[in-house]
Amino acid sequence: MPPDTMNHRTMRTPTFFIRTYGCQMNELDSELIAASLVEHDLCPASDIEQADVVVINTCTVRDSAERKARGLLGLLARRKRERQPGLVLAMCGCAAQARGVGLLDEVPELDVVCGTRRIDRLADLVQRALERGDRTSDVADGDLADLRFEAALRSSRVKAFVSVMRGCDNYCTYCIVPYVRGREVSRPPDGIVDEVRHLVERGVREVTLLGQNVNAYGRGLDQALDFSGLLERVCAVPNLARVRFVTSHPKDIGDRLIDAIAELGPVCESLHFPAQSGSDRILARMNRKYTRGQYLGLVERLRDRVPGIALSTDLIVGFPGETDDEFAETVSLVEQVRYDSAFMFKYSPRPGTAAADLDDDVPLTVKKARLQHLLRLQDEISLAKNQALIGRRMEVLVEGPSRKNAERYTGRTRCNRIAVFEPCPDRVGQLALVEVVDATPHTLHARLAPPA
Ligand code: 5AD
Ligand code: SF4
Repeated sequence: MPPDTMNHRTMRTPTFFIRTYGCQMNELDSELIAASLVEHDLCPASDIEQADVVVINTCTVRDSAERKARGLLGLLARRKRERQPGLVLAMCGCAAQARGVGLLDEVPELDVVCGTRRIDRLADLVQRALERGDRTSDVADGDLADLRFEAALRSSRVKAFVSVMRGCDNYCTYCIVPYVRGREVSRPPDGIVDEVRHLVERGVREVTLLGQNVNAYGRGLDQALDFSGLLERVCAVPNLARVRFVTSHPKDIGDRLIDAIAELGPVCESLHFPAQSGSDRILARMNRKYTRGQYLGLVERLRDRVPGIALSTDLIVGFPGETDDEFAETVSLVEQVRYDSAFMFKYSPRPGTAAADLDDDVPLTVKKARLQHLLRLQDEISLAKNQALIGRRMEVLVEGPSRKNAERYTGRTRCNRIAVFEPCPDRVGQLALVEVVDATPHTLHARLAPPA
């Protein structure tokens, strides 16, 4: 047997690599999975090619996300067939939950399928595959009570995601999340605050509180505490510089939250609150439970109360039945709000959702053209807004070398813009003032400002 097809698992510590698709929730899950694999005596591989175990943490929110994960699985299955029979392949996350045990039948090279509510079991399943060659799936319900957030292997030492709730009860008609992430469950506040304190003690300066709809936080908890109350408690942790949170459903944003953004020092002046569409008829068909007018009213209240607040959104084009005029209403919403940034997607039907029963009647060419139109418009707006900052001094949290250009350092402003500036290794993890010298739609080019 040639050396690299031997079962070398018994000879040295097996290594693992996790490829993550999708949202921040998945990124956090991957950090938790990495920690439990390390606790099971595996060690991280420097790249996917070297790994004995590959975990694909999948996303299924849009068809394109799922296709990417399936493409990688196909490549890895080939590698296993052709040159690394001992390779252990595991799939977890939303697409694994949606496809379930059927994946094991479909892909004979796959060893483990693990659902979104069972990630605390994944390392056990991987170990059984390594030791005994077991092929197992577990996509049952679970309360994730064994998750040890404080052990997560964090990818940044400066900022961290903190889960405050899981699941979603909103059932927007296009969205598969409630089916793959389950019902909405809030995490008790004491554990959240303890985790934030623990992170800050280890040098983290910024936390992003995560949930599919953080504004619903607190429902079903023993104690009466809403999301604004939780923000207050988190902000009281000493030495925490910044707090962000995603995602906020517009229907659940009330004055208490707006006051919290205005009044709590560490809460950054930025809000991600997806509009999805500018047309009332489409919003109703999406089951979003607000109108364009109500959304615009919210924008006005936010800007009155929190001057300079950065607003960002998600938008879907080509929802079933969307006419040219209804798309034009989304365009005019973008023109009216002038978002600081926006994530825009072509509608794709997701199996099992209510909208999947509607006729997906907007042709792909029309969806593409609508998306291009919006992307161009938003780029113009983002560029104009960023250019208006040239000459301004802004606070950034210094994160370290930029991934795209190791000669530049990167950090985000409070309004969540990415700034790049000259290297300053001594200042990683610190707040610094930079002066903006140039701008593109997605980046501020800056230099460290001399002390005032
Ligand atoms: N098609 C296209 N976009 C979708 N999103 C969710 N479901 C779909 C779908 N079926 C988008 C929404 C959501 C973001 C995370 O993904 O805009 O806010
Ligand atoms: Fe999906 Fe709507 Fe829940 Fe967001 S609020 S996760 S879009 S169902």
